[in-house]
Amino acid sequence: MVIAVIGGQWGDEGKGKIVDLLAEKAKVVVRFSGGDNAGHTVINPYGEFRLHLVPSGIFYPQVTCIIGNGVVINPAVLLEEIRELQSKGVNTSRLFISDRAHLIMPYHILLDGLEEERRGRGAIGTTRKGIGPAFADKIARLGIRVGDLLDRDTFLTRLSSVLELKNDILTKVYGSPLLSLEEVYEQYCRYGGQLSPFIRETGFMLQEALLRKEPILLEGAQGTLLDPDFGTYPYVTSSSPLAGGGSIGAGLSPVKIDHIIGVFKAYITRVGGGPMPTELKDETGQLIRERAHEYGTTTGRPRRCGWFDAVSGRFSVGINGFTMIALTRLDILDAFPVVKICTSYKVNGQTLDRFPSSTAVLEKCQPVYEELPGWQTPTTEIRDFKKLPHQARRYVKRVEELLSCPVVIVSVGARREQTIKVRSVI
Ligand code: GDP
Ligand code: IMO
Ligand code: MG
Repeated sequence: MVIAVIGGQWGDEGKGKIVDLLAEKAKVVVRFSGGDNAGHTVINPYGEFRLHLVPSGIFYPQVTCIIGNGVVINPAVLLEEIRELQSKGVNTSRLFISDRAHLIMPYHILLDGLEEERRGRGAIGTTRKGIGPAFADKIARLGIRVGDLLDRDTFLTRLSSVLELKNDILTKVYGSPLLSLEEVYEQYCRYGGQLSPFIRETGFMLQEALLRKEPILLEGAQGTLLDPDFGTYPYVTSSSPLAGGGSIGAGLSPVKIDHIIGVFKAYITRVGGGPMPTELKDETGQLIRERAHEYGTTTGRPRRCGWFDAVSGRFSVGINGFTMIALTRLDILDAFPVVKICTSYKVNGQTLDRFPSSTAVLEKCQPVYEELPGWQTPTTEIRDFKKLPHQARRYVKRVEELLSCPVVIVSVGARREQTIKVRSVI
């Protein structure tokens, strides 16, 4: 059985928590897209972790964790993450990295920052981890892959030609200092040596797991509304966070995916630039941010907060084909006398109930809200759906109705056990 766990909004929905929870019954967990722009928080008996590259299934001895071909890898970040996990007693011997995954090189990180500066007021608000430039090079056939590190001669030939071009851009376009071929080469050869025990043709590992009918989780990064095709372009990331991206980024056929779980917060957040119709710039937004400590896991930036947006939610269900929903952070809404859900947008006097493709249109969209009574009761210790205050149950049911998709998990806290399993998933 293959289950994909996908962000339904603009990221940070709690994918890490849900994967850590579901991985108890899995045999393989694969990260399939993005890079260390992702920050997946996991709080379990080993401690509190902010995983950027390592799949959130790493805490179970029976789980093989794979960083798939669709991920871009900064070796320094990955090695540091492995060291931290090991220092906290987590066994990392079942972690594998696809030899086809592309590497984030020092020039990608420099160019990410320089391109953002150059955009000025139109900046995307990237994480500046080099993600966009690394995926751009992959498609432009200028990328260097993890497997290239295993053959130093090929690596040197490839790096020499690419670095010549990158140095031209750094020096002639941006007036920045150039990078030394020798230094980059030696540094990445060292990384190659350290990473070599982890490198595999991971696609074959997955094929074998499928033949053995083992439960496999595909761990999404980012969220649907950051997809380069279907998100709020150009305010998007550079690889596909969609369920469809899971097939290519992990290396298995789309028909092998049995379930697709959309992870949604009970409200919505966004980090970086771009339109966000339900953004609350008032004290309610501030209250959500402070109650939920909505600051970026990767960059520490304050996250923009707003009410649940069922228009983008429906879009997300459709484009991914979610078969189930995990609704997280319901507890954050415990404080509010009234909770709101955006059911349509108003733009130029007209009602819009479909998420528009144009960012310029989305910028003009005003949310139309449905108000529901709040419950003003703590939910963090509740484990049984029937025991939730009836207003909270009504809220969950309304989300389910508006998105036409069943909510199978309700999360009421960051810890693994703070979960209401409405229906079994795996
Ligand atoms: P991800 O990127 O989708 O894995 O999400 P992040 O880890 O970036 O952000 C989600 C945040 O919410 C983390 O700080 C989690 O510890 C926290 N979290 C997850 N589920 C819940 C929940 O149900 N309630 C509360 N209060 N926090 C949660
Ligand atoms: P997880 O997996 C939230 C956002 C950035 C920026 C845009 C492009 O933790 O949900 P990039 O560095 O990817 O070129 O930045 O995408 N972004 C995220 N926002 N959660 C994430 O990951 C994100 N990864 C990228 O803030 O707006
Ligand atoms: Mg995150």
